[in-house]
Amino acid sequence: MDKTWMNTELDIEKRIDLLMAEMTLSEKVGQMTQVVSIHKKPESEIRAGRFGSSLFGSGAWTGNIDDDGSYVHSMNEVQRIAVEESRLGIPLIFGRDVIHGFKTIAPLPLAQAASWDVKKVETAAADAAREAAAVGIHWTFTPMLDIARDPRWGRIVEGFGEDPYLCGELARAAVHGYQGDDLVNPEKIAACAKHFCAYGGSEGGRDYNTVDIGPRSLRDTYLPPFRAAVEAGVATVMSSFNEIDGIPSTANRELLTEILRDEWGFDGFVVSDWNAVQELIRHGIAEDERQAVRLAVEAGLDMCMVCGCYDRHLAELVEDGSVDIAYVDSAVRNILRVKFRIGLFERPYADQSLSAKILLCSEHVARSRELARESMVLLKNDGALPLAPGSDRKYLFCGPMLYARREMCGTWAPDVEDIYVTTFAEALPEFFEDKNQYRMASLNDEALMQARYCDAAVVCLGESNTRSGEAMSTVSLELPPGQQQFLEALNRWKIPIIAVVFAGRPLDVSWLEEHAAAILYAWHPGVEGPRAALDLLCGKQSPCGRLPVTFPRHTGQIPIYYNHKNTGRPVENHPDGEKGAPGLQRYNDEFDSPLFPFGFGLTYTSFEYSDLSLDHTEIPLDGSLTAGVTVANSGNIEAKEVVQLYVRDLAGSVTRPIRELKGFKKIELKPGESRRVTFDLKASDLVFTTLDMTRRTEPGAFKLWIGPDSQSGLETQFTVVDAGSSQ
Ligand code: GLC
Repeated sequence: MDKTWMNTELDIEKRIDLLMAEMTLSEKVGQMTQVVSIHKKPESEIRAGRFGSSLFGSGAWTGNIDDDGSYVHSMNEVQRIAVEESRLGIPLIFGRDVIHGFKTIAPLPLAQAASWDVKKVETAAADAAREAAAVGIHWTFTPMLDIARDPRWGRIVEGFGEDPYLCGELARAAVHGYQGDDLVNPEKIAACAKHFCAYGGSEGGRDYNTVDIGPRSLRDTYLPPFRAAVEAGVATVMSSFNEIDGIPSTANRELLTEILRDEWGFDGFVVSDWNAVQELIRHGIAEDERQAVRLAVEAGLDMCMVCGCYDRHLAELVEDGSVDIAYVDSAVRNILRVKFRIGLFERPYADQSLSAKILLCSEHVARSRELARESMVLLKNDGALPLAPGSDRKYLFCGPMLYARREMCGTWAPDVEDIYVTTFAEALPEFFEDKNQYRMASLNDEALMQARYCDAAVVCLGESNTRSGEAMSTVSLELPPGQQQFLEALNRWKIPIIAVVFAGRPLDVSWLEEHAAAILYAWHPGVEGPRAALDLLCGKQSPCGRLPVTFPRHTGQIPIYYNHKNTGRPVENHPDGEKGAPGLQRYNDEFDSPLFPFGFGLTYTSFEYSDLSLDHTEIPLDGSLTAGVTVANSGNIEAKEVVQLYVRDLAGSVTRPIRELKGFKKIELKPGESRRVTFDLKASDLVFTTLDMTRRTEPGAFKLWIGPDSQSGLETQFTVVDAGSSQ
């Protein structure tokens, strides 16, 4: 057969036409079918073109199970069968959950978000892509863009937090990091914006649970990061397990076609999440697999992940007239488009000889350490930090994470080899030349004894990687059993406690906030995490991370997030500082405010904000203004500050959040240095879904803040005017 579609001179749409003209219905359905671990499937089925893709993983537990990686050695072999022994030679596209690094595990995505460093997040994705591509992976199921406001939900760790703007900026960065400017680049892989959509809104923080949100919340909170990913050219999108207001995403035509394609112009392909087509039956909108298949394919779901429903029923549904072939043709076009775009037809095989040089190369490891440093958040410091190596102060290092290795890499690190992780205990000699300056204790009783001879205790605590990620919700944010008890026992010695929290999700650190001398929230920081933590603890660099999620005082406050509505009885006139002060408080047993707000983080210096100014206090609907502020480092240590710009629409055709992040800039200032920081804010940056469901900016008054977090900053006002209305 003359494979005319192999002519690279032709444009991709023409190549798709030529190929599809030769495809049988069975081969088309094959392209829409993704299996798991195809190297375990009969070669005859690969030869028959029954599969278009394989993922390598083990379902929900992929995040926490270290795969044996055997798939790597067989990818070229199964690809050779597909390319050289099938009728049309259509290459398979291999997918893998390369969520925050492949072999060089970087900090969790939530930790990366805490860096507020768009460039470093992009670089982390590029490093992960380089490593994954080197072994033959074409496609990663990330970035996860689910807005999450509930830390009980274990998957909060996989995303970029609670704010649509921050998440959107990092979505663009991640997509560009994985895909580059040209997907044909052998160091790039196709990305996947997931889970479309609103999975993070699962009620009760219970994974896979019902999401019951209104259309404006969907459009103004949950959709924006996906729109950003589509604008950045993301190659694929994954439909989410959950329903939204009665419609499971995998069968939601409004989501998968009307919004994603008709409104946003997405032209890649949509893959379901694991078994999600078949799960339409459990959701109760399909009586059997045939109906599930029809609902999914007509909604715009192009590729069925793992359950085999398309493989078993789609051809028959087309032949008996239940499903129009046009849906199949559209799906196959989308899939082939991506395969052509990534150059799969020209380069179906991996040159794995490169991998030895690329996996865990020194540049990747060094950048992982840099990003880990940038992501850790200093939540409290009464002066106990930085530590003083070489001084006469004696330190105790203790706690359950002191010797943790695999746990440092967090969930969704299926290809990690924890031999490459240096534990906190192993890293200590690199920071303390005099080994007599510190003692280490793994057991609590020993730690309590040793503490008596030390000037301060550094307690490495937190949670295991297996306690967050998929299917890992918790009913409580309290520290894992035993840790609080140990802290209270240690506190009896009245020596400063410096808590280093290695965790995925935000934990309840309210006791630490009250009793510890310092808290460094280190997240699950990746292969170089312990060293990065010690870089900060020992003052080699000042911490500069900022919270991408709100930290509650108590689990009972959830959901709690900064960009909430004002309500008719706002809590703001109940100053938490005055116990029992009269006011419209909410709880009678806890303060209403969060323990630490979105955007919060300390450094080893102090920053002062002054001279907030706007070049215009009135702008037309097509206009913009420039806001400026002077930021000064008033302390004696060089440090980075994340300058944040928030607005509030004081009155809209529907209620509006009390604050919305609309810009941020990360700057580094030497002691005594000050800098003018400016933001350009367009009226079009203020769009939202109005009363009549159109997305636009409405004229009216706005407040504007520029400051260090979502609860403070210098404040001013401006107005958006509708020039047309004044005539
Ligand atoms: C899982 C997850 C999804 C992942 C996919 C493939 O169940 O929900 O995020 O990418 O299946 O492993």
